Order: sequence, then structure tokens, then C-alpha cells
Amino acid sequence: MLLGRQKLKPLLLPLLLLSVFLLHSSIAVKRDDFKTCDQAAFCRRNRAYADKALADSGHSPYALLPESIRFDDGLFTADVRNTLTNVILTFELHLLEDNTARLRINEKKPLKPRYDELPAFVLAKEPVHIKPEKVAQDQDGTTIITLDATKKTKVVVSANPLRVDFLVDDVPVVSLNDRGFFNFEHLRKKPEPEQPKMVDQSAEQQEDAAAEVTEQPEEEKQLWEETFKTWTDPKPNGPESVAMDISFPGFAYVYGVPEHASSLSLKETRGGDNAYTEPYRLYNLDVFEYEVDNPMALYGSIPFMLAHRKDLSAAVFWMNAAETWIDVVKTQDGKSQSTLRRLLPFVTNPPTKSSTHTHWISEAGIVDLFVFLGPTNEDIFRQYTALTGAPAMPASFAIAYHQCRWNYINQNDVAEVDAGFDTHDIPYDVIWLDIEHTDGKRYMTWDEAKFPDPMKMQNELAAKGRKLVTIVDPHIKRDDNYHISKEAQDLGLFVKTPAGDDYEGWCWPGSSSWVDYTNPAARNWWIKKFAFDQYKHTTENLHIWNDMNEPSVFNGPEITMQKEMIHHGQWEHRVLHNVFGTIYHGSTAQGIKNRTPIATRPFVLSRAFFAGTQRHGAIWTGDNMATWDQLRYTNPMLLTIGVSGLPFAGADVGGFFNNPAPDLLVRWYQAGAFQPFLRAHAHIDTKRREPWLFGEPYTTIIRDVLRERYKLLPYWYTLFFDAHRKGIPAMRPMFVEFPKDEETFAMDDQFMVGAGLLVKPVTTEGADTAEVYLPGDEISILVLHHLWTLALIQKCFAIRLQPWYDYRSFKPYPPRRHTVAAPLDIVPVFVRGGHIIPRRDRPRRSSAGMKLDPFTLVIALDNKGQSTGTLYLDDGETYAFETGAYIHRSFHYASGVLTTRSLHLDPTSAAARGFAKALEGVRVERLIILGALQQPAKVIVKDEDGTERQVEFEWVQREKRLTVRDPRVSVVGDKWSVRVV
Ligand code: GLC
Repeated sequence: MLLGRQKLKPLLLPLLLLSVFLLHSSIAVKRDDFKTCDQAAFCRRNRAYADKALADSGHSPYALLPESIRFDDGLFTADVRNTLTNVILTFELHLLEDNTARLRINEKKPLKPRYDELPAFVLAKEPVHIKPEKVAQDQDGTTIITLDATKKTKVVVSANPLRVDFLVDDVPVVSLNDRGFFNFEHLRKKPEPEQPKMVDQSAEQQEDAAAEVTEQPEEEKQLWEETFKTWTDPKPNGPESVAMDISFPGFAYVYGVPEHASSLSLKETRGGDNAYTEPYRLYNLDVFEYEVDNPMALYGSIPFMLAHRKDLSAAVFWMNAAETWIDVVKTQDGKSQSTLRRLLPFVTNPPTKSSTHTHWISEAGIVDLFVFLGPTNEDIFRQYTALTGAPAMPASFAIAYHQCRWNYINQNDVAEVDAGFDTHDIPYDVIWLDIEHTDGKRYMTWDEAKFPDPMKMQNELAAKGRKLVTIVDPHIKRDDNYHISKEAQDLGLFVKTPAGDDYEGWCWPGSSSWVDYTNPAARNWWIKKFAFDQYKHTTENLHIWNDMNEPSVFNGPEITMQKEMIHHGQWEHRVLHNVFGTIYHGSTAQGIKNRTPIATRPFVLSRAFFAGTQRHGAIWTGDNMATWDQLRYTNPMLLTIGVSGLPFAGADVGGFFNNPAPDLLVRWYQAGAFQPFLRAHAHIDTKRREPWLFGEPYTTIIRDVLRERYKLLPYWYTLFFDAHRKGIPAMRPMFVEFPKDEETFAMDDQFMVGAGLLVKPVTTEGADTAEVYLPGDEISILVLHHLWTLALIQKCFAIRLQPWYDYRSFKPYPPRRHTVAAPLDIVPVFVRGGHIIPRRDRPRRSSAGMKLDPFTLVIALDNKGQSTGTLYLDDGETYAFETGAYIHRSFHYASGVLTTRSLHLDPTSAAARGFAKALEGVRVERLIILGALQQPAKVIVKDEDGTERQVEFEWVQREKRLTVRDPRVSVVGDKWSVRVV
């Protein structure tokens, strides 16, 4: 079958659709559909190149030409020569604000331009250069650039062979080309086919010639054409890969490069214990029923990697949207560090000998690499998202619970499911319609028989404060009677074949074309398609789901678009594949934003993603399965996506394929309730599984945990605001909160929600206990890890360790490993001493009903009797918060007194005051103080006007818990206090 290269005959359509359907209902990933490194010539070539370089003690043929060096306003430029080919490259080192540097390497005189338009789609702003403090150069061409003399941050560019080292405190933290794997395949002319030397060859001679062909050296194979299964990639530009080795000396742990169903701490890929044999692959693909513990590519790609050790973090962002593979190797011998010491005597060794060495291989484009020198994880989140964009502040409904399945079949079905939530007193905010709601998979249309009155449906949902999400996929059914298809075709907005025709492939609607979103005209056109007079029968209450945007092409190689297809500017799909879905996602979000006179925050869920997606909305981890393993891997997957700058992510609750047993479904809800994006979803072939269908005790348990999510919505919303402002994810790996505790560095079966809650989802069938590690402060770590009896030490030195508290029972726990009870109705969650968690405890049917509800503050005291926390509130819908219409408060408890102050950037502005006025009547109705030392005599509230009054309280001696009932203080007040005496 030459599906990839032929136009399918109409008769084949039903057959193809059947096979696709079967494909989507099989039960395991078809590994053979996807390439291994060995089957991707550029990956194979670069691995071979690396092996050769290693055999040659890391020698690199690239040399910087010292006489070409120029230095101007934070930009260091030079020429680099490949001494084997004499090809000259341009080398640019940009020194940027906030401990960031950028390295760009391109061909000086390429045969034709190489793709360098990615920054327009990925970077949120033009990076700002800084002038370094000092630049020194020695005779052999080594340049030492001092960025900050006090922090001893330096960049050292060594000329021959070329290598670049980034130093913090004179210790190398990121080294480029230290193993000599840097390889820049220059564009070249296709050689003329060789004339056969002898016309009359004997059979023997012919065999010899054939043997010669098979012995062709690696670097010469499949340069100009490459076949995978039935598809032949014509590769008109020939070899054009770029590759670099990036080492993190002194770092044993690296994280990032999503999306893979793999552990948080990245594994080795070229030998070693428990290593993968394949590199981590970044190539956005529709890999339904993916396997866990596997470095295969999935739906999204973020070429960002974070390295962390006790005292320091550093990170890199390899800005390239072509297919990319990353090898990871760890060493324990400190070898590469000593090489650098030989070169630069002032360099000091990192605190450990363990190092991580990575090898980044992209099929095309240029080297455009950002290095972030932290020094903390928080600094890196800020540095990376300052460049690639702040995560969008979600609308408040978007972080509540979403109910989806493929498909809610008609309007009546939607009404019944909606009513079911009310009957069973389960909160939810959004119901979703999958592809079957459309007229024959023509997106932005309705199947009128099934959905006769979509406006009524949306308005009825809106009356209960609920929303509707409809699916809009990027494949456009080829049909002249379908306005979207006709217009796009007439306007020439589709992706083209190399011959200049509209590209055609197969997806849900059958024969389809794909709008070329890289074309600004196409984006503008698409954005307008969401206007109410275009996308008919829709209201402000409708938001969008962008699926299949890798793009998924059922009859394409690896179920995606052929790499030789042509985009705006004559660029091949090859060079931008991984960013395609993000541009589409961004255009849809813009469309939703533009459709109302006052812009409201769009909610658009995407399956494909790349660096920068965080600016547009949420993503989910695609077609998982209802298995315990898959539930377990949601945690490392979402943690990885979060540390890579994309905080709004979730996994299909319950598992997309197959039917979860009730206990698996319950455990999945318990995990999902503490993950950022919370949506239940199911394949069309699965049994219905709305939360009440399994009966008791399951309905009650699911209701309880969803209500818990709703109680915590103010906390989540505040965390999303922190993500928006600072790039820090709400769902955090343990090491982010406990950066000095090595026990946490590879931990991915428990995580933090913000700084204050620790969650240990139960992901093992039948388990009724769970192992939880509650980290401590530095003293606790010392006590716990280095001294033998905790009790004795505590007694002798009267040390009060940092306490934790069980979230439900409030029982205090000392920091250490615990085995805790976790029967089916309990997900272990702990509040960290020192943190205040704002909640709204009144059960409502949707989050809209909670907007004026009073607050409960859970005040968990630390070992000094102190606690702090923040609360952020805005209208939850519009962009008025950007001009000051919000409340941002901090609460502080110390020496028995709770006080509050505003964190608003401009609290006296009219917008701030206006919003505060609207919330004046919203009060704090309860304080739950955990870890109070003794029963108080009284609790006194001092009001805004200075008057004092006593309020009621309850004291529970066993848990040392003090509940202050209704202190009646306003959530917007500045001057009140609550005193416990
Ligand atoms: C894809 C999506 C899935 C959706 C289905 C039908 O498989 O990943 O979530 O339900 O397509 O649209």
C-alpha cells in the first residue's frame, strides 16, 4: 500500500476508516508504527558520530577563528571552521539579562536559508542583552567572559577545539561540546548519480559491488532519501541535522524534555542500570495506548532540561521544532571536570563527581540554545517563562471539574448528565462534546438531529453556572459545501504538497486538508471563524478543545504529516513539525478571546504542545488506558510537563481506553483532584462511567474528593496566579520544595500542590496503606539521615522538628517516612507546617456559585508557631486583573496573632479599590489553627476601626487544634487582626 504517496480512491474510504477505528480500539501501542533512532537516518548518523568522537577522546573538528571574534553590547560573535570540510559557521553568544545566555550557530553561507523563524512562534519577547563585567582573551583564543564578579558567573569559550563552559562560583555547570559531539551538517548539492565503472560485470563482480554498497559508511547512508515502512521521504535538502553534547558536570539528576510516559528523573539511554536503549524522542505524534516507562515520542515536545543538585540548578532550552532525539548518560568519575581544570586553572570542582551528559540531535534548523544559570529552581522557572511567555491565567471555571466522554450523544443526553450531577450532589463546571456532535466531522457545525437547539443547551448550562466545550480539530473535511473547507481552499490557506497542490490526508472525516497556521493570513482567517456569526449557535458560554493537532494524519508516516509538505515561506513541514499544534492552539485561543466586545479568558485544551504553549492554555496527556500503571505514570508525566514551563496539564481521569474497575476509577479521581487540569474522559467503546454509576461506596468517595477540589479552588487559583507571574508550577516535584534533601530528587510518586500541601495518590490495586515521605527542614534532614535515634535527639536537644498535619484528621506528623492508612476512601494529603491554606468550604454545584462565599483559613503552624499564606482573587473571567482589578493578600500568623496585608502591586488604584469594594462583604468565617501549643483563654478580634471583641473557639487537646468560629473579618480588610491569648 502506498498510502502516503497516493491519492486514495473513494471506494477505499470505508475500509480505511474501519481500519483506523480498529486501530483506535486495539489494546496496545503498535511500536512498529513509530521509528527507533536506528530508523531515523540523522539520529543514527549522529549516534555514530558521537561514538567516533568518544573513541577519539572527544576530539572535535570545529575550531573558532580567534581573528574573527567581535564583541559588542553583550553579543560575542565569531566564525567557526569545520576543519574537516572547511565549512564556516557563524557563532553568536548572546549575554542576556537574568542569568541567561543564548548560543546561535548557523552556516555562514548556506546554499539556501536554514529555518530560523521559530522565535516568532516561541519567544514572548525579544531577549534583552547585558554588558558583561569583564572580557579577557588569551593567546590561544580562549575568551573568559565574567557575567557577575560577585557570583563568579562566567562563560568560557575555548577556541580549538570549540567548547563553551558556563560557570557559577567558578564551578562549571553547563558544558557544550566537551565530548566533541557537536555536528552541524551543512547544506550541500545532491551529487550526480555515479556512472557504473564497468559495463560488463561478472556475477562475482556484481556481488562485490553490492557488498560495497552495504558497507557504505554510516555518514553516507540515506542522505537524500529515506524509507520507513511504505513511505519514502524525498529529503530534497539532503542531510541538514544539528547536534550538540550538553554536559551538566556535578549534576546526577536531570528533568524535563516532555512528553514521555517516563519517570521524573530522566534515565540513561546508552547503557547503565535500568537504562533505556533508545534516546528520548521529541516528535509530536498520535500514539494512542502508549506504553509507560518508555522514551517514545508522544503528543507534545518541550526541548527544555533542568539539572538540579543540592546547592544549584541550571537549565537549557534547545529551541528547535524539528524531530529531535536526546541521549542521556551519567558518569561518576569526574573526568570531564578535570579536563576543564587543566584548561582553566581557576575552575573549581563541583561538589560531587557525578555528572550527566546529554546529546541533542535535531533533524534540521539551526543551533539556538538558551542556558539558564538559576541558581534556584524558582529562578529558572522565571528565566524560562520570561522568554517563552507567562502561563495564561486560566478562567476560574477551567480549574474546576470537567465531565467529558466520546460522546455525549445528543442534547437530551447532555441534559440528563447535567441533572445527574445535581441529583447526586456532585459539583462540576463543564460538559464536553466530542467529534460526534458535528455534522459529519465538519467542525464548527452541529448535527441538527442530535442537537436541535444548541443555544438553549448552552443557556441552560449557563443558568447553573456551567459551560460547554466543543471539539474543533485541525483536519478540515474536503467538501465544497462546507464553508470552512471552501474558504480555506479558495484563499489558498492549506498546507501544500511539494508540487503546489493542497495537501490531502485522512483523518476522522475522511479526506481532509490542514490549514497552514504558520501563514499569518491563515491565522487571521481562523481567528475570525470563532465570531458568533461564523461559528453558529454558540454563546460566550462555549469553549474549545483542539485535538489531533500533532497533526494526526491516519495515512501518513508515523500517523502524521509527511515531512516534505510545504508551509508558508516555502518551509518544509520537517523544520517546524513540533510547533505546528501550538500555533493552531494559539490561534483558536485568540479567536475565543476576540469574539466578545470585552475579552474573556479563553479556555482551549490542546493535545499537541511545544515551548510557548503555556501562553495559550491547557494540555492533556492523550489516549491513556484504564490501568493502574497508567494512573501511576500520570504523576511523573504531569510533574515533568510542569517543570518544563507548562503548568496547566492533566490526564484523562479513569483512563481513556477500556473500562476501569470501580476502585481504579475512585483512585484516579483522588489523584486527578490534586492535579492541575481535572477532566474525566472515556473512549466511545467504553461503558458509561459518570461518577454515580458505580453505586456506593464509590459515588460518595468520588463526591467527597471532588468537593475537596472545590474547597481548595481558592488555593489552586492563587497557585495559578503564581504560575502566571513567576512560572512556578502548581503541581510541584518534591525537589522543588525541598531542594537540599536528596531523598526527594528522584521522587515522583508523591508531590506538592503549592508549597503547602503534600499529596500521595494511591496507585496500587488493593492497597490500604501508603508510604509517605514527609521532608523536614535542614536540621530535620540532618537528624533524619545522619543520626540514629530521632526521639533521643529530640529529647536531648529539645528540637521541635518541622511538623506536618494530616489534611483530614489534622493529626500532627513529624518529618520522616511513614506508613499511613489509605483505605479506598482516603487519599493521603498532608499540610506542611508553616503554611496557610485558603479554602471555601460550602458545597456548591459549580464554582460560579462560590464567588461570594466566605473563606476558611487552615493555619498549619511550624516549629516556631508561625505560618504564612497568600490568597489571590479576581473576577475569574476577564482581563480586568491585568489593569489592577484583583485582590492579592498575604496572611501571617506569629506569636498567636493573625494579621494580613495586601500584596497588590498598586493597591490604591481605582481598579484595585473597585474590585475590593465588590468583595467587601466576603468574610473569613473560620480559622483552623493546627499545632497550637496550648488551650487559649480567649480569642480576640480587632476590627478595622480598632474595636476589639471576643469570638468563640473550640479547642481539641489531642490534636492541638484550635478552631476559631466566625471571626467575621473581611477578606479585603487590611487592618484587622485575630489574637489568641
Ligand atoms: C482522540 C483524542 C480523544 C478523543 C478522540 C475522538 O483519540 O485523543 O480524546 O476522544 O480522538 O475525538
